[in-house]
Amino acid sequence: MKFTLNTTPAAELETACLVVGIFEQTPLQGSAKLIDKASDGALQQLIESGDIDPFWKHTTMLHGLEGVNAKRILVVGCGEPEKFSAVRYDNVCTSAGAFLRDHATTSAHICLHELEAGETELQWRVRQAAVNLDRANYRYTATKAPKDDDNEPLLSASFNGGDEMQAALDEAKGLAKGYLRSKELGNLPPNICNPAYIAEIAREIAIEYDNVSVEILGQDEMADLKMSALLAVGRGSVNESKLIILKYQGKDEDSQPVVLVGKGITFDTGGISLKPGLNMEQMKFDMGGATSVIGAFEAVAEMQLPINVVCVVAAAENMPDGNAYRPGDVLTSMSGKTIEVLNTDAEGRLVLCDALTYSQRFNPIALIDVATLTGACVVALGHHASAIMSKHDDLADELIAAGQTAVDRGWRLPIWDDYQPQIKSTFADMKNVGGMAAGSITAGCFLSRFTEGQRWAHIDCAGSTWIWGVDKGSTGRPVGLLTQFLINQAK
Ligand code: BES
Ligand code: MN
Ligand code: ZN
Repeated sequence: MKFTLNTTPAAELETACLVVGIFEQTPLQGSAKLIDKASDGALQQLIESGDIDPFWKHTTMLHGLEGVNAKRILVVGCGEPEKFSAVRYDNVCTSAGAFLRDHATTSAHICLHELEAGETELQWRVRQAAVNLDRANYRYTATKAPKDDDNEPLLSASFNGGDEMQAALDEAKGLAKGYLRSKELGNLPPNICNPAYIAEIAREIAIEYDNVSVEILGQDEMADLKMSALLAVGRGSVNESKLIILKYQGKDEDSQPVVLVGKGITFDTGGISLKPGLNMEQMKFDMGGATSVIGAFEAVAEMQLPINVVCVVAAAENMPDGNAYRPGDVLTSMSGKTIEVLNTDAEGRLVLCDALTYSQRFNPIALIDVATLTGACVVALGHHASAIMSKHDDLADELIAAGQTAVDRGWRLPIWDDYQPQIKSTFADMKNVGGMAAGSITAGCFLSRFTEGQRWAHIDCAGSTWIWGVDKGSTGRPVGLLTQFLINQAK
């Protein structure tokens, strides 16, 4: 979607659709007020007669309002002004975007950011409006014929504002591109989006930007590096495992990079510890960590931020097969530490431990892995927050703050050494499961053993990266959190 700026007063602007916000029980403000004046109080009358809903996230479309040049006006309820927080504002923008997607509007002029929302700044409100409009405008079409009633989505949005808003729209463009990449990769079926497919996408990204390079390691190269934990997971699949490395250079060569590591299980059957059949198809989303680090990486490249970033994706498919790894196997990881496999469904930590060991060669200023690692994370936090684990309070705080700014929130879980005994093994240095208690944390504890001495954080996005409700599919998250963290690093 194209984003532009326009300062023409709302009532005069010739546009297919104006989008304005209104509060409950509050005098009209900004463009809504201008429209009301130009239409001789028609807007206010419609509110009073109950034809326009001022309730939070409610939408009303007006057609051919007298005195206003816009063909249509989408009025979005913002609820009570005292409750209008950053999160509520973000939701309003999403509602407007979803409505526009489904109502044959290919261009619109947005005024939602005119309303104050909590402590937020105008620039931020413009950015979030653009990002959320773009996200809500998404429609999956890759593997199905368009429906007859599928109208064209929104193609361009202008925002009420002058050049001082351009930086906000530039950020929005990067974020939107990152989210879109993450969503589309997440939604593609596992028979298409396999490790080689992700590698191909990484190659395309490297072609698009001059300061991006890519390296793809296949199974032979990984065997040379002794990545036996990662390789074990993909051994039951006919699709070759890949380690995908993308490098972005936005700063001098010896400036330490942020390294993002993503779990890219393109399908997780559980392996020999097979998952139940019901809902197994959801495990195509088990690459949400990988899609997010790739999306955030692309956002950074699009914005050309002055930092260095390396993205490492451990891509594999976890399948049962005569050649598959089994419970009881003891694997020697790249680090030399041995792992007793008690459950082949705890595969994410196995691919990540080798990817994390590998990543240390880049001498990261921060090492962050992102993974749909545990069902326990969905139990703990549901679909609203990603779990953040780190022994570095400053890094955890930075990630949580970034999530708040991007309205892609994270919530911290402890990763105290007190939990470490749960992964003690009789036959190896550790085992790959820690029992019922604190499943997300013991998975984090497992990874911590491969990141000693690093400024490391682990993000479990099992609940945030996809939803199974009405608008089912990938959310693209936590692209917003990661990208905001990188934007903040560049400041
Ligand atoms: N990919 C799953 C985690 C998952 C489950 C993500 C549900 C999203 C929704 C992961 O590989 C897994 O299977 N984890 C096991 C670990 C257990 C065997 C210790 C789990 O959470 O059940
Ligand atoms: Mn699994
Ligand atoms: Zn998994």
